[in-house]
Amino acid sequence: MPESFPGMRFFTRKLVKPEDLNASRSLFGGTLLSWIDEEAAIYVMCQLGKQNIVTKFMSEIDFVSTAREGDIVEIGMETVSFGTSSITIRCLVRNKFTKETIIKIDRIVFVHIDDNGRPNPHGITEPAN
Ligand SMILES: CC(C)(COP(=O)(O)OP(=O)(O)OC[C@H]1O[C@@H](n2cnc3c(N)ncnc32)[C@H](O)[C@@H]1OP(=O)(O)O)[C@@H](O)C(=O)NCCC(=O)NCCS
Repeated sequence: MPESFPGMRFFTRKLVKPEDLNASRSLFGGTLLSWIDEEAAIYVMCQLGKQNIVTKFMSEIDFVSTAREGDIVEIGMETVSFGTSSITIRCLVRNKFTKETIIKIDRIVFVHIDDNGRPNPHGITEPAN
């Protein structure tokens, strides 16, 4: 039974192509993590309205099921909480059509930084649309 995530926003879809596969002919984990890192950064920039952010922390990554060549996967993001300089989000990637979960990451923390690379308050407390 697919999981339900009412607060999660699925903006980006990806087609699994031959160059995205591992030796077992399923989606390479590194490729998926790269997609997630970019999508998460874009999501956070939009939430904070600021571009100078860095990835600080990723919690346990659960590879729940695989994806195969030709599958379309969708990448979901949801804000968990706002800190002073940080924002915590969570991520879920699932098969676009079957809704089967492919990967889950419960916490990804980004930090807003100043020009010297030090944490800088972002001043945001409410999710953006
Ligand atoms: C991000 C960075 C500037 C933070 O510096 P720092 O000295 O750890 O900063 P602080 O201890 O003041 O913490 C800053 C914020 O991050 C949060 N934080 C720090 N370590 C954390 C961790 N392990 N898990 C979750 N949050 C963390 C703090 O709670 C704080 O949040 P708040 O301001 O909302 O209260 C610094 O660690 C850094 O530059 N890291 C490299 C980032 C990078 O290059 N990322 C690219 C991926 S390789």
